[in-house]
Amino acid sequence: MNVRTTDYLVFDSVTKNFDGLPVVETPFNLVIPRGQFVVFLGPSGCGKTTLMRMSGGLDTPSSGEIRLEGERVGKPDQRRGMVFQSYSSFPWLTVGQNVAFGMRYRLDLSKEEKRRRTDHYLNLVGLHEFANAYPNRISGGMRQRVAIARTLAAGSEVLLMDEPFGALDAQRREQLQVELRRIQSEESRTVIFVTHDVEEAVFLADRIIVFSRRPARILEDIDVTSQLGDARTLALRDSDMFFRMKTQIIQRVRDTSGAEV
Ligand SMILES: Nc1ncnc2c1ncn2[C@@H]1O[C@H](COP(=O)(O)OP(=O)(O)O)[C@@H](O)[C@H]1O
Ligand SMILES: [Mg+2]
Repeated sequence: MNVRTTDYLVFDSVTKNFDGLPVVETPFNLVIPRGQFVVFLGPSGCGKTTLMRMSGGLDTPSSGEIRLEGERVGKPDQRRGMVFQSYSSFPWLTVGQNVAFGMRYRLDLSKEEKRRRTDHYLNLVGLHEFANAYPNRISGGMRQRVAIARTLAAGSEVLLMDEPFGALDAQRREQLQVELRRIQSEESRTVIFVTHDVEEAVFLADRIIVFSRRPARILEDIDVTSQLGDARTLALRDSDMFFRMKTQIIQRVRDTSGAEV
């Protein structure tokens, strides 16, 4: 591949097999420019989590490679923040310490600033009163919120979020969607976000990648921002334009055989 300035996060001819069977149909190629909010939408079991784990360095491709700014992704590092169901909180740290732990490499932040950010993100996910509790004292959904707060507080330049809002109630989910989109655009983070929810996908995404069933293949690569613009507000969500786009995507996903999401 020729390297262009827009080649920020690159999947270059990636394949992955489990027990000799492929997870992606053909070598998988995808180029994500810096600052783009990409949503992966696809049926359960198609390989989204596998692609995310490889992006985070938790798993390795069978062949090909994933590069961040030209550098091969190896082990997890602080440039890529992950919110995965299987990769959440540290049981020996309190909820507040778990959130602060995300900032351990941020030598640019003072102690006070770290405290302020911990408070801010704990409030955002509605866990302020649990700051001193240990993770085994709170529910699975709450632990997921701890992981979200920790990752946002850390300020990683790439956010890898695998169905992060699945366990949240509708209102908090909406609140976090607005906040995540704000953080992403103001701080020009690059995000890959997995969801089953078409409404959530359209609200958040600059670009939606629709996958087939396993072995995964890209069925659609939809440019949302060219149609809806950059600003994602609750007013936009109530607009005809938003509703039309959502309906259009639901139909496209349905029309493509074997690709119910
Ligand atoms: N560690 C593993 N060993 C064997 N098969 C796996 C492993 N991880 C995932 N798979 C299989 O790979 C496919 C893709 O899984 P996954 O990436 O979790 O899909 P999704 O996140 O889209 O639901 C599934 O068929 C799953 O059973
Ligand atoms: Mg998954």
